[in-house]
Amino acid sequence: MCGIFAVSGKSDNAGAVVLSGLKKLEYRGYDSWGIAVEQSDGTIHIDKGVGKISAVDKVFPPAHTGIGHTRWATHGGIAAKNAHPHCVGAVTLAHNGIVENYEALKKQLAGRHTFVSDTDSEVIAALIDRAYTKRTTPEDALRKALAHIDGRFAIVAMFDGVPGFFAARRGSPIIIGRAKDTTYLASDVPAFLEHTTVVNYIDDGEMVHIDGTHVHVRNIESGAPVKKRNITVSWKAEEIQKGNWPHFMIKEIFEQKETILSAVDHTDAAICAFVSELTATRGAYLVACGTAHKAAMVAEYFFADIADMKINVVPASEMPAFEKFVRAGTGLLAISQSGETADVLEVLERGRQKGARILSITNTPSSSIARMSDAHLPINAGPEKAVASTKAATSQMALLFLCAFAASSKKTRIKSRMDIGRSAIWNAASALNDMLNPRYARHVEKLARRIARHDNMFIIGRGALYPIALEAAIKIQEVSYIHAQGFAAGELKHGPIALIEKGTPCIVLGDDAETVANAIELKARGARVIGIAPTQPDVFDLWIRTPECGSAQPIATLIPVQLLAYYLAIARNLNPDMPRNLAKSVTVK
Ligand code: M6R
Repeated sequence: MCGIFAVSGKSDNAGAVVLSGLKKLEYRGYDSWGIAVEQSDGTIHIDKGVGKISAVDKVFPPAHTGIGHTRWATHGGIAAKNAHPHCVGAVTLAHNGIVENYEALKKQLAGRHTFVSDTDSEVIAALIDRAYTKRTTPEDALRKALAHIDGRFAIVAMFDGVPGFFAARRGSPIIIGRAKDTTYLASDVPAFLEHTTVVNYIDDGEMVHIDGTHVHVRNIESGAPVKKRNITVSWKAEEIQKGNWPHFMIKEIFEQKETILSAVDHTDAAICAFVSELTATRGAYLVACGTAHKAAMVAEYFFADIADMKINVVPASEMPAFEKFVRAGTGLLAISQSGETADVLEVLERGRQKGARILSITNTPSSSIARMSDAHLPINAGPEKAVASTKAATSQMALLFLCAFAASSKKTRIKSRMDIGRSAIWNAASALNDMLNPRYARHVEKLARRIARHDNMFIIGRGALYPIALEAAIKIQEVSYIHAQGFAAGELKHGPIALIEKGTPCIVLGDDAETVANAIELKARGARVIGIAPTQPDVFDLWIRTPECGSAQPIATLIPVQLLAYYLAIARNLNPDMPRNLAKSVTVK
């Protein structure tokens, strides 16, 4: 949710480096953009615009330091005046996050500053500028101003005539990339991966001044210096390239035959130790948002089926209603691709205050969620760039599938139980390998073209395929803008069936007798039935075959659903990598 990129170094091409870094962060926001560079005479040159940063092709004045921002609008519409960086007096600032008390602060500042944007971010710049006097340093001014701000933020700022740039965080991520003679700072590692894999993580409540290779980190509250460890990340620059694929989404869909295997690339001992943290706790909650929440719902079925265990699955934003049950020793397991989702972080922070055990499964081992966890397992899916989450979801399911096996047995039988779980995932991976080929994709593409003109679609599934129906709806909604809704197959006759008209596309997940009976009910009301299943009962008008994968069937069923969503977007002439109104990491509440 908004991307920040900054650089300070020997070369005088800071503007071009920031532009290229922001293009790699475009998945975090693509409403508008802005870049500021510090010219040799100490003055700041700013360029801003509305639209996608990927379309920007500009030449910047020579500069050794620059900061930039790609925006996902929260406060203030999509307009050049609301694009970052904002300049107030001596301060030029870009911000990711939300200032919760911005209205009160704006009132306090009225009369001393005339606001030119509608953003909450300009308030931060104005506060810092007010605190920056002849007797204060930029650090003092930042510390003083940030003490007034309620909410989450990551900021980067330049001060007129002061070499280098400053950054600070509370809640929203920023990471430093260290190269031989240049230092980078970004909201996400892939943005500077082509320059360096050596990073320092800035933790909540910390700020930094970066001037070339001089990096000074301090605690915002106390001002005390903080030492940082250099960490080498394992992601490779090639992993964030599209290569010959037209979109990241289709690239990532095809990667799943490998990524479900990397997801379970943990020793039995590591998975069992993680699961014992969960099962030893007093009541466990799986918390997640969006697609990760649907993966958690699938896990609820896995745990019931494989481990005879009932686990609680709650969307993170709904957790406040159940917070009274969270106490010392309660297990909170967060599922998150990015590891930065604000709603999830908030649940974990509040749980931690009550003494809950924090567990997590993320795709980013260095993320805020992973780092605040008592126990963490990565899904090892490699960077997921498309806004629509695909490979992360199946990886989460694969790992949670194995976790259910780990929870299913006493220590003496654990080896054989884990072997059964692993062989089911291997079989699924091999079946996906056979399924995911260009011919299969072309079949789904043709089918998508036949239904793409419809404005409404319904998806039904039973058991562990019910959350897949909900996930199918999210995928179709977000990339094709078709109104899609998922239902538990048995719930149809309790209301939703009234929506079916002649020709309404209804996607039926599974070929078991009861689901087929529901499909027949749909057809009787005029629906056009599209089956996604291992076999083709007569009721299916159109059919996408899936391999038979036993208990791992939800994974095998989700993949054609993702392909269908992708090709629906293509058939409707939309860019599936950049759905309107969305951003990859939702770091605001
Ligand atoms: O990074 P997270 O897994 O925590 O993100 C959660 C959701 O924001 C995310 O899954 C979102 O629903 C995706 N756009 C769905 O494709």
